[in-house]
Amino acid sequence: MDISKYNLAMRMRKKSNLDQRIFNSSDLLLAYEGSFTNVNEYIKDKEYFDYFRIFNNANPVCLDLGCGLGGFAIQIANKFKDKNFIAVEMFSNVIIGAIDKARQAKLENLKFLNCRIECLEKFIKPHSIDTIYLNFSNPLPNKCDARQRLTNPRFLKIYKDILKEGGLIIQKTDDKDFFAYSLEQYKLENLTVLEECWDLEALNDLNNIKTEHEIKYILEGKKIHRAIVRV
Ligand SMILES: C[S@@+](CC[C@H](N)C(=O)[O-])C[C@H]1O[C@@H](n2cnc3c(N)ncnc32)[C@H](O)[C@@H]1O
Repeated sequence: MDISKYNLAMRMRKKSNLDQRIFNSSDLLLAYEGSFTNVNEYIKDKEYFDYFRIFNNANPVCLDLGCGLGGFAIQIANKFKDKNFIAVEMFSNVIIGAIDKARQAKLENLKFLNCRIECLEKFIKPHSIDTIYLNFSNPLPNKCDARQRLTNPRFLKIYKDILKEGGLIIQKTDDKDFFAYSLEQYKLENLTVLEECWDLEALNDLNNIKTEHEIKYILEGKKIHRAIVRV
């Protein structure tokens, strides 16, 4: 076999192994986006989650958007057993690691959703969410990528639609330009900024749960910024 065919065969084996692991995760994975071309078409037919059926209780539901390796979601679900959490991540090869860790933690109040945040409204009922966590979302500094930033107005509109009245967005980032941009967007969208903290470590908030990226940035000596925003 020539080397390019060998590489392709290896990639396909890896992919089918990932598909199998995703398929075997239905105990924790609520939905899997799969592939499609048009977001508007895809989200048109709603498949709203029935939280009571999923969690067996009527506790508040919170979202961790862009959960990455899942460390934050697992810790917060462990700390607040009286709340339910759905951790959302677009990359299946990333979320599968988070799911495997969560399975070991045996948490009844944490589930996963493998989709792009652009598609949340297919699954999440309007005004059904208490808190949205945006932890170290990609800052995407290039102007031409502004639409992809998770605090761009098109995402804030989604958050406003799915959050309950008075619901919160809690954002953390190490990137001061992205933080400044986000604060500006919150104000333009008439959201109430309850906290604007430019140095979270100095605040010594003992309730702060550190994410994988947060720990890395603190070790690099970077300042962590946090905004708490009410809709
Ligand atoms: C920099 S990582 C942060 C991971 C984690 N929250 C932390 O603090 O360690 C950002 C994550 O957001 C995910 N992400 C970015 N844009 C997304 C989108 N539109 N929909 C879903 N996930 C997204 C990325 O795949 C990545 O895993």
